[in-house]
Amino acid sequence: MSRARASGDVTLLSIVGARPNFMKVAPIARVLAQRPAWRHLIVHTGQHYDANMSKVFFSELGIPEPDVHLGVGSGTHAQQTARVMMALEEVIEKARPDMVIVVGDVNSTLAGALVAVKLRIPVAHVEAGLRSFDREMPEEINRVVTDSVADLLLTPSRDGDENLLREGVDPQRIHFVGNVMIDSLLHFLPRARETRAWARFGLQHGGYCLVTLHRPSNVDEERRLRDFLVLLERIGKRLPVLFPIHPRTRKMLQEFGLAEDPPGVHLVEPVGYLEFIGLEEGARLVLTDSGGIQEESTILKVPCLTLRANTERPVTVTEGCNRVVGQDPQTIWAAVEEILGQKKRPSRVPEKWDGRAAERIVRVIEEFLETRRSGA
Ligand code: UD1
Ligand code: UDP
Repeated sequence: MSRARASGDVTLLSIVGARPNFMKVAPIARVLAQRPAWRHLIVHTGQHYDANMSKVFFSELGIPEPDVHLGVGSGTHAQQTARVMMALEEVIEKARPDMVIVVGDVNSTLAGALVAVKLRIPVAHVEAGLRSFDREMPEEINRVVTDSVADLLLTPSRDGDENLLREGVDPQRIHFVGNVMIDSLLHFLPRARETRAWARFGLQHGGYCLVTLHRPSNVDEERRLRDFLVLLERIGKRLPVLFPIHPRTRKMLQEFGLAEDPPGVHLVEPVGYLEFIGLEEGARLVLTDSGGIQEESTILKVPCLTLRANTERPVTVTEGCNRVVGQDPQTIWAAVEEILGQKKRPSRVPEKWDGRAAERIVRVIEEFLETRRSGA
């Protein structure tokens, strides 16, 4: 961080750490790069560190190399959050940015927001207001706490605004900017299509089921994970199943002695962003517990079954082609059969999921900083 800071310049500091953060920060970094008087620092906490969970996204999405790597790695929630906080405090104290940007709902998001707010640096939370109303989910705690301390609450959908207003948040802090993850999706979709990633796995476009699972509630319990593999094997008899495995899930499969591919199911390492979007676009259906994949499938108009009891992204159900089907294998199987037996259902594009969320985010930040500087 040696670059000199001219007076009047703005310094923003974005925090990334885990896979779903990278596609949210990439469009913001692109917009900020067009403002030569603005300095944009990127801090990588190191929450995710495997090359296919981190590095690949920087090269594919054109994100500038992080200015600082905290290298915190894995641990319990308290360990990971505390390590990010301790390392980040020094970095933020030194850089004294005008604003810290945190995205999403991972531990790095929460830690970043807490450190900044205690150093009296304003915080912008991108993807604010989402609620699953399920405190068993670690992300729900991260969302509630981050939103309660952030100065700017940048929401992806109107339900986010409603949730925050219901919690008594000052409406002036809330800004409905749309979904920045969709900025990345729309920007990179042509390149993603060109990968023809399905061909690399010997699959036909429109002829396979794509699966991702990584929520502790789905993969940390042996019985449930075993049941899911049996279900995938059953689906695999109808159409090929491709399952890029998250490292948490890989670890649990190994721990439970389940690492063998069931017949008809292809377990592979996580794939890069372009290939993954290519795979999503080419799938007959998607089974997932990921937040971001529910959103992407809505825009790609690929039927999505969410294997969870709830979703913090209800517009993907009301507007898109997502269905929340829970964790019972029989119910999921029935939903799979229904999808395979019907034509794709129509779905709408949610409001402001238009590829321009990052521009709106930067505009809101600019107005916020101008108001502060003018002392209004
Ligand atoms: C984290 C987020 C979750 C998000 C997910 C996206 C929290 C609380 N959870 O979950 O919201 O949906 O990322 O992918 O922040 N591991 C590796 N290599 C890596 C990263 C992780 O092997 O590069 C393994 C480690 O064994 C680690 C485990 O995965 O203990 C879990 O990683 P962690 O970052 O704690 O949580 P995720 O399950 O990845
Ligand atoms: N993704 C990817 N490769 C994969 C699986 C997912 O690039 O093998 C992308 C996916 O397209 C989406 C993001 O990762 O953009 C979602 O991240 P993840 O499911 O890890 O986290 P969540 O959204 O559930 O927090």
